[in-house]
Amino acid sequence: MKPCIALTKGRLEKQFLEFFQSLDYDITSLVDKGRKLRVETEEFQFVFAKGVDVTTYVEHGIADLGIIGEDILAEFQPDVFNLLPLPFGKCRMALAAEAGINWPERKRIIASKYPGITKEYFRKKGESVDIVKLEGSVELAPILGLADGIVDIVETGTTLRENGLVIKDEFHHYSARCIANRSSLKIKKELLSPVVEAMQKGVSVQ
Ligand code: PRP
Repeated sequence: MKPCIALTKGRLEKQFLEFFQSLDYDITSLVDKGRKLRVETEEFQFVFAKGVDVTTYVEHGIADLGIIGEDILAEFQPDVFNLLPLPFGKCRMALAAEAGINWPERKRIIASKYPGITKEYFRKKGESVDIVKLEGSVELAPILGLADGIVDIVETGTTLRENGLVIKDEFHHYSARCIANRSSLKIKKELLSPVVEAMQKGVSVQ
């Protein structure tokens, strides 16, 4: 039996593979996978999914481990073991709006992929806002007049900059995380220990 690791497709996938390679694992078949969503290497089974689905596969024990952004954990609070912070995927959660435009006097409308985090942020501020849930390209919402501002993750800041938005407040700092299925950690301890320990070691040298 091989450990099953679910990876978040896209940016985190690339950063994880670089990290994994630095731990002396061969990533050739993962880099050359094309559109395949499941890849078996000599030591592991890998599946590739969207972040929130990674948590679902791990929660259900289909995957033993998962690599996801902490933003997903904060928003969806899945029933998984939050095993290890990883040294990549660093980003922050920010409130942003169009440059040079003042907030309106009326109740603000905020677009976000993270309605839970947004609600909590404004609750702590004692302000009631209307939240519009979007699935992506959230930066469009203020430009097109759907919202007054957005709450979203910022990594390099390029997407905000290239769309004429500026940060008004930053309130959480996140990194990638390795999560684990709660019973896999107990039942498959011997199987998972080598890779978990390798990742732990990799984290400590960074
Ligand atoms: C994320 C986020 C921002 C962008 C920030 O979106 O929602 O749009 O990355 O990154 P940057 O600061 O480096 O520009 P993602 O690329 O995941 O795509 P999405 O908007 O379709 O969710």
